[in-house]
Amino acid sequence: MAKHAAVVWWVPFQKRWLLALLVMLSLSTVVAVFIKAAFDSCDRYVEVERKVVSSGGASPIKSPPSPLSFMKSKIVLLVSHELSLTGGPLLLMELAFLLRSVGAEVCWVTVQKPARIDEVIYNLEQKMLVRGVQVIPAKGKEAVDTALKADMVVLNTAVAGKWLDSVLKENVPPVLPKVLWWIHEMRGHYFKLDYVKHLPVVAGAMIDSHITARYWKNRTQERLRIKMPKTYVVHLGNSKELMEVAEDSVAKRVLREHIRESLGVRDEDILFAIINSVSRGKGQDLFLRAFYESLHLIQAKKLQVPSMHAVIVGSDVSAQTKFETELRNYVVQKKIQDRVHFVNKTLTVAPYLAATDVLVQNSQARGECFGRITIEAMAFQLPVLGTAAGGTTEIVVNGTTGLLHPVGKEGVTPLAQNIVKLATHVERRLTMGKRGYERVKQVFLEHHMAHRIAAVLKDVLRKSKSHPRPQ
Ligand SMILES: *[C@@H]1O[C@H](CO)[C@@H](O)[C@H](O)[C@H]1NC(C)=O
Ligand SMILES: *[C@@H]1O[C@H](CO)[C@@H](O)[C@H](O)[C@H]1NC(C)=O
Ligand SMILES: *[C@@H]1O[C@H](CO)[C@@H](O)[C@H](O)[C@H]1NC(C)=O
Repeated sequence: MAKHAAVVWWVPFQKRWLLALLVMLSLSTVVAVFIKAAFDSCDRYVEVERKVVSSGGASPIKSPPSPLSFMKSKIVLLVSHELSLTGGPLLLMELAFLLRSVGAEVCWVTVQKPARIDEVIYNLEQKMLVRGVQVIPAKGKEAVDTALKADMVVLNTAVAGKWLDSVLKENVPPVLPKVLWWIHEMRGHYFKLDYVKHLPVVAGAMIDSHITARYWKNRTQERLRIKMPKTYVVHLGNSKELMEVAEDSVAKRVLREHIRESLGVRDEDILFAIINSVSRGKGQDLFLRAFYESLHLIQAKKLQVPSMHAVIVGSDVSAQTKFETELRNYVVQKKIQDRVHFVNKTLTVAPYLAATDVLVQNSQARGECFGRITIEAMAFQLPVLGTAAGGTTEIVVNGTTGLLHPVGKEGVTPLAQNIVKLATHVERRLTMGKRGYERVKQVFLEHHMAHRIAAVLKDVLRKSKSHPRPQ
């Protein structure tokens, strides 16, 4: 089953990605099982979705030289905390392929692997091998030698820090000056000296949003009394393949019709979507409350609006969590079953974005570290109703590309009011969507991300060169 997932995922369908997406839809229930719940507040299973449309293959248009071309023949060791279909590892794989495409020598280690052979891991490793990434054991001489001879070592996530001492042992000091630490998490339990004690002396830290970078600076200082190294903020970007679907009106129409039909939502109805693994941190419960409240507002004010629907993509019935049950009970209790639709976790996000009118990003507490689904939705010209927290505040321009509401219970009524606003003001909704799309075209494309990463890698290389190499 997992084989299907990974195989379909990167097969070069070329222009047949639309077909691929439709195939994925039928596979998605099977695939879903292999998507883990988010491993932290920053990582969202949804980040894998972008990969699905990667089946589109390379663009036929000759692209300008990569900003990463200076990495040609450089040796880069990528250290992944784990290997799964979740945001962190997939982002690192994306970097691996970007580096391979410019002729860098890329080695990969996965720190934490289950004892038993895992089909997902096997398939992901095969994908890397096919693209010339050398997958080596996390422990042992080869790993140490590679770390010593590499021009750069990229540690992915805070937890990967444990690998340094446990594997490199006495060789840690010469490696540290060429370590770039890519951090995507924002939860208290990552602030452990055990994980991050070497942070102050690595070449740099790369973090997905300014707000997360500030949080790390504060927490390392206050909690651990250590100083962050030079920190680079790198906002992520949408893949070319996602953009291709988002910009194809025919494809979008087909996908929209397909999904709406499957949900029982008519073309003229207005559909709000929340696309995140179902968990309290992602705020589906508060969203449902706001949605219910918005129905009341509309009724009380006798507003003329199309029939309103909500879809929650990222459900996991098999997990039978208390939270999931709570959501479903709420919907039954409020008698809104015909308006609220639950969709299993899926690898295919593009069809749901095509079918949706408004994206709701309701992540709670400190919010998302970045929140890739937000820029993906904006690519599909969707306005975003988001919490004023985390990376969302750096993506959504309040009042222009979406509307922000506070986190927590205080946010329920403002969100309900924003839902009503976008339901009643069609022009405003469409304009916000267009502005969001323009913003994506300005700063959130793959080549923007590549440029941002290139600037960081250049700096790290320069710094590590100023340290003598051990023989
Ligand atoms: C860090 O954040 C806390 C609140 O979470 C605040 O009280 C403190 O002043 C901040 N420290 C710095 C150095 O910014
Ligand atoms: C969602 O997943 C559950 C459990 O894995 C399954 O029983 C159900 O049929 C799935 N729903 C859809 C619409 O595929
Ligand atoms: C967003 O803009 C609205 C007005 O358009 C304002 O009432 C609200 O306070 C703003 N929220 C944030 C977080 O800036």
